[in-house]
Amino acid sequence: NLPKQVTIWEVGLRDGLQNETRYISVEEKLELINGLIQSGVKNLEVTAFVNPKWVPQMKDASELLAKMERPSECNISALVPNEKGLEKALAARLNEIAVVVSASEGHNLKNLNKTADEAIREALHLIYKANVAGLRVRAYLSTAFGCPYDGPVKIERVMEISEKLLGAGAYQVSLGDTIGIAHPKQLQESLSLITRRIPPGKLALHLHDTRGMALANTIIGLEYGITTFDSSFGGLGGCPYAPGASGNVATEDLVNMLHAMGCQTGIDLDRLVLVSTRAQAILGKRLPSKILQIYRRT
Ligand code: HMG
Ligand code: MG
Repeated sequence: NLPKQVTIWEVGLRDGLQNETRYISVEEKLELINGLIQSGVKNLEVTAFVNPKWVPQMKDASELLAKMERPSECNISALVPNEKGLEKALAARLNEIAVVVSASEGHNLKNLNKTADEAIREALHLIYKANVAGLRVRAYLSTAFGCPYDGPVKIERVMEISEKLLGAGAYQVSLGDTIGIAHPKQLQESLSLITRRIPPGKLALHLHDTRGMALANTIIGLEYGITTFDSSFGGLGGCPYAPGASGNVATEDLVNMLHAMGCQTGIDLDRLVLVSTRAQAILGKRLPSKILQIYRRT
């Protein structure tokens, strides 16, 4: 019994581009965003208010949001790691932000320059402040299934942090397989425990496809009642602070699989492929999405 409708969070502009060393102009980003919106994408995380010395590609966050059209039917979000980022998100008149913490110590230190406890405290504070200011908050829990620095992550820790994030007012926790290490059996074991404590409607999966297991893991998520998945057009992406992390699952591969199984996403695959094709031209390289390879040949 698969869901009839699945929600996709398109994170390519943030999670995808943050890894690209060549700077992509605001105009080019706007072209991609508009293409995604015209393809029917309704949830877009388009940038991050982070230290530009850490992630230079995101240095234009305020300018991008000032220039982009924001149709009322779309949820537009940006990643916010601290209070300074929240101020900028408020100035950009966002209705929604995403915060991030990692389940492991090592990744918090590399990604946010904070210990896990400090990062959790900061995230809870940001969620509270953002909610008070009228913003919805989605929370990422990175390295939920394994950390590039610390190795295995305890599922108890994942549940404990997720409950804190939701308790503070995040409307959803997106469990991040930051380095694409989770395999379907592991995910099954994890989700069977997690969904006993947290309703699956409060969860999303953020699957990187580093080892080619993201679509298989998506099926496990669906079986456990999760109906929100994060992905990047073309399969762009990675985390600059997770060595070897490759792209998120490609939005077109995810959409293709879901539509084939009768789960609607509201996204027009043909149009989406055009956006990824344009992204390849802008970036001057091929993107890993499987569906994109088929379209290239036909
Ligand atoms: P820090 O160095 O500890 O920050 O970095 P600080 O407060 O000491 O400030 C240092 C400098 O950064 C100052 O500037 C601040 O003004 C500036 P300076 O005086 O040196 O010129 N600064 C900022 N500038 C702009 N916007 C801000 C901001 N904050 C400080 N918001 C910080 C701490 C969190 C800022 C840093 O560690 C950082 O930027 N981290 C973000 C790293 C990042 O973007 N990682 C990728 C996203 S997470 C991810 O990909 C995982 C995810 O996809 C899920 C998954 O896959 O699992 C979400
Ligand atoms: Mg990610």
